[in-house]
Amino acid sequence: MTSMDPVAEAAAILAAAEYAVALTGAGLSVESGIPSFRGPDGLWTKYGQPSNLSYRVFARDPQDWWEKRLSDEVTPGNPTYDLKDAVDNAEPNPGHVAIAELESAGIIRAVITQNVDDLHGRAGSRNLLEIHGNRNYLRCIGCGWRRPRARHAITDVPPLCAECGAVIKLDTVMFGEPIPRAVLDSCFAETQRCDAMLLVGTSGAVNPAAQLPLVARERGARIIEVNPEPTQLTAAADVVVAGPAGEMLPLIVEAMALDRRN
Ligand code: APR
Repeated sequence: MTSMDPVAEAAAILAAAEYAVALTGAGLSVESGIPSFRGPDGLWTKYGQPSNLSYRVFARDPQDWWEKRLSDEVTPGNPTYDLKDAVDNAEPNPGHVAIAELESAGIIRAVITQNVDDLHGRAGSRNLLEIHGNRNYLRCIGCGWRRPRARHAITDVPPLCAECGAVIKLDTVMFGEPIPRAVLDSCFAETQRCDAMLLVGTSGAVNPAAQLPLVARERGARIIEVNPEPTQLTAAADVVVAGPAGEMLPLIVEAMALDRRN
């Protein structure tokens, strides 16, 4: 790492990149009022991390799962309620907007997000890969049918797919659930193609998402990390912009405009 200002160095890497990709995590949405999962105020820190058997428990008794889920969504004092309450009241923050601006400027070519809060889409990101799904959608575990939850009233539990009869679940990927093939293949394709990866607000604790920066780096991509704290991915970063995404990403966008004027 050079002695260059990290914001300027990150801007220079992005400006020089042919195909930069962003990988984002819960930290990007903290300034939108949504708690992260790990760290002092994390949801898993408060309630414990769900078991890796979560998906198997769902599949074994989807009716029981749905009954508990629908109850938890309206009963304070559980992670489902806390996350739903925060996301229902959240707006994209300047960090989401900066990433959308970088995509509009042709700098960021794809956004891979671990977040299910839909804030990238609402901020205007277009080539968006939601590797852990989107909390506003339902998905059939049989045929992959997928619809906004607002357009599909859940009258019976478990809801069954009209297309194939299999059980419908929330689109959000559960612990222990295989990530849908199409989105996973796209995430790896974008990773293979990128020559720079902008990591924002992720602890790098969960695979396969945490593998993506390492795959990119092995192929010679430059890695930028934006995070107020060191993470499991910091060692792989060429430059670390230590600070909150909502402040640091707009500074990088501003520095890029300066970079273009020189
Ligand atoms: N700006 C940028 N980063 C921040 C900010 C902020 N304002 N606040 C916190 N962070 C950082 C933390 O330092 C931490 O490194 O965001 C990261 C959040 O880490 P996690 O809570 O582990 O979130 P994430 O990496 O997205 O988790 C990955 O784990 O439980 C699963 O499905 C869940 O998608 C999630 C996955």
